Amino acid sequence: MDERIISQEAQAEEESFDQGIRPLDFDQYIGQTKVKENLKIFIEAARMREECLDHVLLYGPPGLGKTTLAMIIANEMQVNIRTTSGPAIERPGDLAAVLTALEPGDVLFIDEIHRLPRSVEEVLYPAMEDFCIDIVIGKDSTARSVRLDLPPFTLVGATTRAGMLSAPLRDRFGVLSRLEYYKEEELADIVSRTGDLLMVEMEEEAAGEMARRSRGTPRIANRLLKRVRDFAQVQGNGIITTELAVDALERLQVDKLGLDHIDHKLLLNIIEKFRGGPVGLETIAATIGEESHTIEDVYEPYLLQIGFLQRTPRGRVVTHLVYEHFNMEVPKNG
Ligand SMILES: Nc1ncnc2c1ncn2[C@@H]1O[C@H](COP(=O)(O)OP(=O)(O)OP(=O)(O)O)[C@@H](O)[C@H]1O
Ligand SMILES: [Mg+2]
Repeated sequence: MDERIISQEAQAEEESFDQGIRPLDFDQYIGQTKVKENLKIFIEAARMREECLDHVLLYGPPGLGKTTLAMIIANEMQVNIRTTSGPAIERPGDLAAVLTALEPGDVLFIDEIHRLPRSVEEVLYPAMEDFCIDIVIGKDSTARSVRLDLPPFTLVGATTRAGMLSAPLRDRFGVLSRLEYYKEEELADIVSRTGDLLMVEMEEEAAGEMARRSRGTPRIANRLLKRVRDFAQVQGNGIITTELAVDALERLQVDKLGLDHIDHKLLLNIIEKFRGGPVGLETIAATIGEESHTIEDVYEPYLLQIGFLQRTPRGRVVTHLVYEHFNMEVPKNG
């Protein structure tokens, strides 16, 4: 209970912090060049034709900028954005209410779109394809289906799990954009940009330190900056020097690759309890006390990306890189 309240508070704090630093247009949105350049073209073309932008699906690991990009799309199209999420829409009627309230040209942003119930998805198909919905009026013998026209709109869907989307839904998106982990230089730019907005003075190399340890993820980069800033304020003179940043990051238990204590626990568990694997996701989750979907969505993608973890049909396996990272001897058969 307590933990829930605390995490809600933390979330609220993060959201208000977010609002001040979230990029508002493509120029402020650092990196993801391919995705950005393509979207710019599609948006310009749609505007020249005075049409809506085709439906866009944004997918990729958490914190890479999907919500931000959805807002930028609406902004660049100069239209309003309405935001909802998969779990929030429980019944077909809920979606019908959202759709019929749209104004022509609006962007409808559905976050976690893979979590839409199937019955709701079915309402979405004609809405996306023909801008109409079929609703049932009356009951039993008097029930009849009525077709309602909708204003043209752009659906922007976001998901961390493109694989969980049904094929008919995925096929109805005209633009599929996959966000990638950011490069170190891009993250350093993001840290510097956020630092400027927060008006904190920072050495360039300090921004690099935070960038290197943020797992390719802007949200983590900004979070590290926020915490390092606290150290600078209380223990320094407010200026983030490289030395102070390194010291603060050590204290935050974020190692040189950006792995935190949960990553460590996860990897060391596989080594110590399962001889490096293979071990099933559910078993890992149970032994380290984390939800399996959190591991799958938040922790695992980066560990896979840097080659620390491999997925095999029989479960997860750690690679020799992990033993080297922890200065452990690589087992002969591993
Ligand atoms: N390209 C970028 N340039 C600068 N800042 C960025 C960029 N992308 C994301 N950010 C920052 O990172 C934070 C997280 O971004 P966002 O909320 O858009 O991620 P997300 O992909 O929607 O995450 P989730 O999957 O958890 O919903 C935001 O505070 C935003 O300001
Ligand atoms: Mg989001």
